[in-house]
Amino acid sequence: MLRTKTCGELRKENIGEFVELAGWVNAVRDHSGILFISLRDRYGVTQIVFSQGVGNDQIELVRSLHPEDVIRVSGVVQSRPDGIVNKTIATGEIEILSERIEILNRSQILPFQPSSPEVPTEETRLKYRYLDLRRSKMQRSLALRHRITKIMRDYFDELNFVEIETPILGKSTPEGARDYLVPSRISLGEFYALPQSPQLYKQILMIAGYDRYFQIARCFRDEDLRADRQPEFTQMDLEMSFVEMEDIIETINGLMARLMSEVLGRELKLPIPQMTYDEAMERFGHDAPDLRFGMELIDLTDIAKNVDFRIFREAALLENGKGRVRAINAKGAAEKFSRKDIDNFNSWVIEQFGAKGVAWFKVGSDGKLISPITKNFNEEQLRQIAERLGAEPGDFLLFSADTFATTCKVLNGLRRRLAVVLNLIDPDEINLCWIVNFPMFDWDVEEKRWIAMHHPFTSPLKSDLNYIDTEPGKIRAEAYDLVLNGFEIGGGTIRIHDSRIQSRVFELLGLSMELAREQFGFLLDALQFGAPPHGGIALGLDRLVMLFAGLDNIRDCIAFPKTTKAADLMTGAPSTVAMKQLDELAIKIK
Ligand code: AMO
Repeated sequence: MLRTKTCGELRKENIGEFVELAGWVNAVRDHSGILFISLRDRYGVTQIVFSQGVGNDQIELVRSLHPEDVIRVSGVVQSRPDGIVNKTIATGEIEILSERIEILNRSQILPFQPSSPEVPTEETRLKYRYLDLRRSKMQRSLALRHRITKIMRDYFDELNFVEIETPILGKSTPEGARDYLVPSRISLGEFYALPQSPQLYKQILMIAGYDRYFQIARCFRDEDLRADRQPEFTQMDLEMSFVEMEDIIETINGLMARLMSEVLGRELKLPIPQMTYDEAMERFGHDAPDLRFGMELIDLTDIAKNVDFRIFREAALLENGKGRVRAINAKGAAEKFSRKDIDNFNSWVIEQFGAKGVAWFKVGSDGKLISPITKNFNEEQLRQIAERLGAEPGDFLLFSADTFATTCKVLNGLRRRLAVVLNLIDPDEINLCWIVNFPMFDWDVEEKRWIAMHHPFTSPLKSDLNYIDTEPGKIRAEAYDLVLNGFEIGGGTIRIHDSRIQSRVFELLGLSMELAREQFGFLLDALQFGAPPHGGIALGLDRLVMLFAGLDNIRDCIAFPKTTKAADLMTGAPSTVAMKQLDELAIKIK
């Protein structure tokens, strides 16, 4: 070993010990001929002192140091003089009086200083990721990620789960996103798909009798990226046999309580509350509601049917009750927003959600509603609106009149945006809830066909099976999502274990018998050889770490993430390849 201690472990109790440390130079300071090095490794920072008594060659070496040079020093631990005790670091009461320094490697001039509080641009950070990963914030986040996966492994091991690896080179599973394809050299013209999730393999493992499976599994999805999405991400994936929805939920509740207590030192009140999908859409306009603040959506469709204001009335009277007029009340926020702010909200909802706009009222000190549209309502209607929304002087009321789906998007968007602006969110809160009973199918307007809301292997609620031939839109699924602070951090379902129902669902999704057999013949076969009832879930590990670490970007908890263009700026992937490689694969670039 080149060192006997790390830069984070020496304390007052070590005074008098001879130690050897190695690490990176944070900074060198010269105080009237006495030289100080602040030496860093991933455990912390230790102050090294060279006094004038040391040989000239050593002093010259210290003077020649640059930030991020890699050095090794030896010396005796001593207490820092009273005035320079540093209470902000764990090693702040001691320093090493050194007589010997060895330079292990020099660093070139750096594109940025890892020890500086200034954060460089994301592009620079990703290009020089090895320097970025030296920053203490990144080191804390990766250490937290390690701890979380360790706790998960221990937890599932105690519950008799077996960790089993499933293939990376597989066959495509239709889970909504585009596949990453890998050409085969042996079978020219054929392709593997990187797994979007281990979904089918884990179901097959249940049929194979493994009973309780889990895996920290890498997944790949070629989809549009956002702050909480990566093309390559990790799931904590599990599957169980002979279970019902509540068993999976209880297993994950236990895991979340363990993580909260061991990682954050906090108690999680169990059980984690549940809300149906319908209730979430009604009250919050979203299936991953942020419950850290109120501002719930309130329906005014009945009142809107009779008003002169055309936009409200037409939405309220849309055929088959498809339209809605709904609103949120931003308490006490009337004076916080100028006409220009409101114009911005308006163009934002038009651009972002294809809405027609947002209507608004401010509540005056006399309790009266004030807005350019007030004249389109009679006194009684204004009174009813104010009463329904619990309007009080100083409140700011925002309305969306549109299809149900658009009012959901608009008001969820505004609700989240206003909560940030109005500072309604406690940054320390961890708010968990389950959303259950999702619809089984969603009607794809463009493709004019049903698509599976979770995936096609999801079991319908038994009580809704009778709609399968008549009104598939009414079928609810045995599906459940786990939501943390408004982010979906997990999703799972009870699976179909009857091959006839599975075939019927494929058919409903517009998959011909022939295509279903071609893509999933192995599953349909396996379901006929003694498939136990089973179900499971996958948690998004990256998102979970992001939220536990209090970060707002998933890239900050992944060692080597991709940009929003799915590029790795450090290695330059994706890149072109040699013609010879393409020839071997019989691939020609168009
Ligand atoms: P689902 O597609 O809901 O379910 O994925 C499970 C969880 O994985 C996370 N996640 C992502 N995280 C980062 N980047 C992405 N691109 C990304 N996509 C998803 C989310 C999500 O809740 N096979 C099913 C699970 C099951 O039914 O057991 C599945 O993959 O946090």
